[in-house]
Amino acid sequence: MEEKILILLKEHSNLFVSGEDISQKLKVSRTAVWKHIQRLRENGYEILSQPHLGYRLLKVPDRMLPDEIKYNLKAKLFGRKIIAYASTTSTNDVGYLLAEQSAEEGTLIISEEQTKGKGRLGREWISPPKVGLYMSLILRPDLMPVEAGKITLMSSVCITKTIRSYLGLQAQIKWPNDVYIDNEKVCGILTQMSAEQDLINFIVLGVGINVNNQQDKLPAHATSLSLKLKKKIDRIELLKKLLYELEKGYFDLGKKQFSHMIDEWRNFSLTLGHRIKIKWRENVIEGQAMDMDENGALILRDDFGFLHHILSGDVSVIR
Ligand code: BTN
Repeated sequence: MEEKILILLKEHSNLFVSGEDISQKLKVSRTAVWKHIQRLRENGYEILSQPHLGYRLLKVPDRMLPDEIKYNLKAKLFGRKIIAYASTTSTNDVGYLLAEQSAEEGTLIISEEQTKGKGRLGREWISPPKVGLYMSLILRPDLMPVEAGKITLMSSVCITKTIRSYLGLQAQIKWPNDVYIDNEKVCGILTQMSAEQDLINFIVLGVGINVNNQQDKLPAHATSLSLKLKKKIDRIELLKKLLYELEKGYFDLGKKQFSHMIDEWRNFSLTLGHRIKIKWRENVIEGQAMDMDENGALILRDDFGFLHHILSGDVSVIR
């Protein structure tokens, strides 16, 4: 019921809606309307009430509330089901467990903070409350396990596009899956997969974005979107735009349209053309980042002229 009242108030933004109107439209008593308004206020909504005029919505809370995420959400699959926490260990861990229990594709797990946020290669993802975006999506793509890297690549392209179009910041992709602004990291992606020989059971796509973080709470060489934009950013609006963009990219992958994704990646790449060092497991390789192949592997030319197609690793740019 609170959701329906909110929709009515939002449809009349800046105007009062009378208690009588609400009670008639939603077929509940005036007292019930008042109780629901109280509950919304307890959840952080600022609602003005004026005798004879009714209620007016002044402010929505800066919280990842499912009703707010769903309001006018353009994505149809991503976010159809939302599981939101004030705090959890890791949205990826929760997502993985839910996916094992057959949670539907597109389920979004989101949290205001993570107490055990996970980065790639066993690192930690620092996830302080109410400033960042910590989300995981459950995907069940019709891809071979060897193609899983396409999901990460598609996501980095879509995140970069969203940051560029919504905020006008010059985000770039550091292969394989980091988003940078002015050589400082603003977003990381962690994809975890359950697969058999030639079939992906599911992928948990985890995205962490530093949105409204202050510099002193960030790790070295990291930044946040608000630091770059010099103003506070609406996390819900950003999330909604991101879900829509990610969904479009995901559907394109389903239609086997990957080559234009690679073109976009080339445009956004911070890595291409540079001399880089890639570490994975006990291996280290150094050379020139030449291009990306049709599976999303980076093509690196070593100093003997040999080409290597590398699917994942830890990259440092040498020059
Ligand atoms: C990296 O850059 O190393 C990847 C960071 C991924 C962080 C996100 S935050 C949401 C999701 N849950 C996690 O525990 N990790 C990912």
